[in-house]
Amino acid sequence: MAKIIAISNTKGGVSKSTLARNIAMACHINNEKVLAMDCDPQNSLEKFFSTRFERLDNVELDVEVKSESTGLKRHILHRSDRYDRVIIDIGGRDTVAMRQVLMAAEVVIIPVNTSQESTDALMQMMDAVEDARGVNEDMQVFLLITMAPSDPHDTTATVTAEGLSELYEGRATVLNTKIKHRKAWLQSGYDGLAIWEVGTKENKAASEFEALINELVKKGVL
Ligand SMILES: Nc1ncnc2c1ncn2[C@@H]1O[C@H](COP(=O)(O)OP(=O)(O)O)[C@@H](O)[C@H]1O
Ligand SMILES: [Mg+2]
Repeated sequence: MAKIIAISNTKGGVSKSTLARNIAMACHINNEKVLAMDCDPQNSLEKFFSTRFERLDNVELDVEVKSESTGLKRHILHRSDRYDRVIIDIGGRDTVAMRQVLMAAEVVIIPVNTSQESTDALMQMMDAVEDARGVNEDMQVFLLITMAPSDPHDTTATVTAEGLSELYEGRATVLNTKIKHRKAWLQSGYDGLAIWEVGTKENKAASEFEALINELVKKGVL
């Protein structure tokens, strides 16, 4: 079971922070002692939990903002001693901090959407992953399709997943679960809610997230 999980991509707007906060909360409700570490200068993860803690108090996990990149790897490894799980939100561009996180993480989950820009940008991210593997050879790397078209007849996400599996064979595993583009994700951010707490009649986003968690459990990540 991986303890330090980074949700990372050099590309912005691919759902890193959204997934990081929901994975952190899922670990928390599974009775784990969780540290959510925000290493992204945009501080989206920290802002979300501030909103959450102001409005609700049923999820108590530790949140740390860490913008200093010097010694970050050592800091993460040191902090991880006191937790069952460390979830790190990092990326937006290729930084020293991101490289330090990749050297500390046991697992990196790279959210990628189905746009050409996103799949093109992945090459740069995978270069950074390869560099980190030089010192962190056991790191497991997963690609997760996010913001996939919600139309069940649309095959874009499946085609993208197949293309990425082929391109990055032996370097990364493309997760079977695909996170679809759903309004509930946006709403959950405004309201400080976990995706399963959003009160829509049929919360498909929550079912898709549950499938992701189940897949991560099955693959030994959680
Ligand atoms: N699956 C999704 N469907 C629809 N909107 C999403 C989804 N995931 C994230 N979003 C929204 O997209 C925006 C970018 O997501 P965010 O998690 O901040 O990306 P990143 O951290 O990679 O920059 C946010 O407004 C978020 O609410
Ligand atoms: Mg973010």
